[in-house]
Amino acid sequence: MESNLGSGDISAAVRDESTGIFKDRDLLDTNRIISDDRIVGRDNQLSNLITLFKPLIQGSTPPNVLAYGPSGTGKSLIVNRVLNEYQSALDEQDEDLATIQINCEWLQTNFQACEKLAKHVSQLDNVDEKISVKGLSTHKALTKTIEAVDANYDALVVIIDEVDLLVNPLKSGASESAFSALLYQLSRMNDLVGFNDMSVVALTNQPDFMRDLDGRAESSFNPRDVHFDDYNASQLREILHKREDAFLDGVLEEDVIPLASAIAAQDHGDARKVVDLLRTAGDVAVNEGASTVAEEHVRQSQDEVEKDRVLSLAKGYSFSKKGVLLAISATQAWSKHDIELIPSPVVKKVYQNICDQVGTETKSLDSIRRYTSEFETNGLLESHRKSQGPDSGVYKSFVLNRQSGYLVDALISEEERFEDVVDEKDVVMGRINTSLDEFFSKS
Ligand SMILES: Nc1ncnc2c1ncn2[C@@H]1O[C@H](COP(=O)(O)OP(=O)(O)O)[C@@H](O)[C@H]1O
Ligand SMILES: [Mg+2]
Repeated sequence: MESNLGSGDISAAVRDESTGIFKDRDLLDTNRIISDDRIVGRDNQLSNLITLFKPLIQGSTPPNVLAYGPSGTGKSLIVNRVLNEYQSALDEQDEDLATIQINCEWLQTNFQACEKLAKHVSQLDNVDEKISVKGLSTHKALTKTIEAVDANYDALVVIIDEVDLLVNPLKSGASESAFSALLYQLSRMNDLVGFNDMSVVALTNQPDFMRDLDGRAESSFNPRDVHFDDYNASQLREILHKREDAFLDGVLEEDVIPLASAIAAQDHGDARKVVDLLRTAGDVAVNEGASTVAEEHVRQSQDEVEKDRVLSLAKGYSFSKKGVLLAISATQAWSKHDIELIPSPVVKKVYQNICDQVGTETKSLDSIRRYTSEFETNGLLESHRKSQGPDSGVYKSFVLNRQSGYLVDALISEEERFEDVVDEKDVVMGRINTSLDEFFSKS
């Protein structure tokens, strides 16, 4: 059909937001709150939490709670949903419940956590002043913050999300982790401030979180547990079916949801992942100008999602870890050999060479071993044991699970200091290939 933009349809064309694929893409945004009718299969957790927080409307204090389970199993969603409802219920009774929430993902010290708490308390409806904790000790900062809530609210629930991530890297090996100290101090506020209506909810992906808590924190925090297990493939399918209206009618091909759910179920039944997969599949279809979302779009989306995961993992690594990962990925990407497995002695030499280029100290062999096993745990690579000839010892070899090329690019664009490696690419490449030649000529 001939388009007719000239005769007054320009304004309509400009305002047309339609992608031809999505009706409401936000329904697949994993940071958005979803309506209750889209929540699938968390009845046990919901009813447990409702029971545990019941004291809120009975005029007493709920216990502390630990919600644990793998990522994407609905911990944040369900805990927030239940507490929101209690907030409305208390509102109706003219009681004021404050809930404040911090996520520890980007926090490293206890004091940073207190600063965040103070900021959230300052933003509460009933609190007029800005709570400044500058220059105070952690303990004083916390006391001041909680006192401000005490003066204005009847009850308080503090949610500490991703609590296990609150670790101070400068203090590794210290007898007490930051999260231990925070949970200890928070759960003692009742005694210290005399504010009796406070409870702490900690959320974590770590199954053995309580074991990492020191004894003092364990006994004062003393939580009731709510366990979140993995979703199975049929629950994941249902989660997606309940969001089908994100797409225009008839756009989603039949095999798309079953495939996305099967992929996510294989991994560990992560709802965030399955929703991300479907959204990205839609994006791929939009980019290709396709008129439907098909199986191939899910497969491409799986690639993108996995790539994002790898990149965000790599981003979070320390400079030294990035150096070792760069050594492995550069060896795979830049070698003239057709190598399937990269021997650890070669990794060590390439890493040394990268450190020379960059002008930093190399880490010990022990650290390199620890890093590579962390990469393995994170699913970046696999290792195999090999023995070289009858007289020499056993060594490890690595193979990256993903294309090495984009990992090299990502690491280099992440760290300015790696620019020297690019400037001296020929030198590093030379080193890679001589190390490989030397190694394989011996075997
Ligand atoms: N039971 C569920 N039903 C529907 N969607 C869910 C369910 N559980 C999780 N999700 C979706 O998965 C995403 C991640 O959930 P979240 O609660 O943040 O997981 P966790 O805190 O356990 O890592 C959210 O976007 C949420 O909408
Ligand atoms: Mg969460």
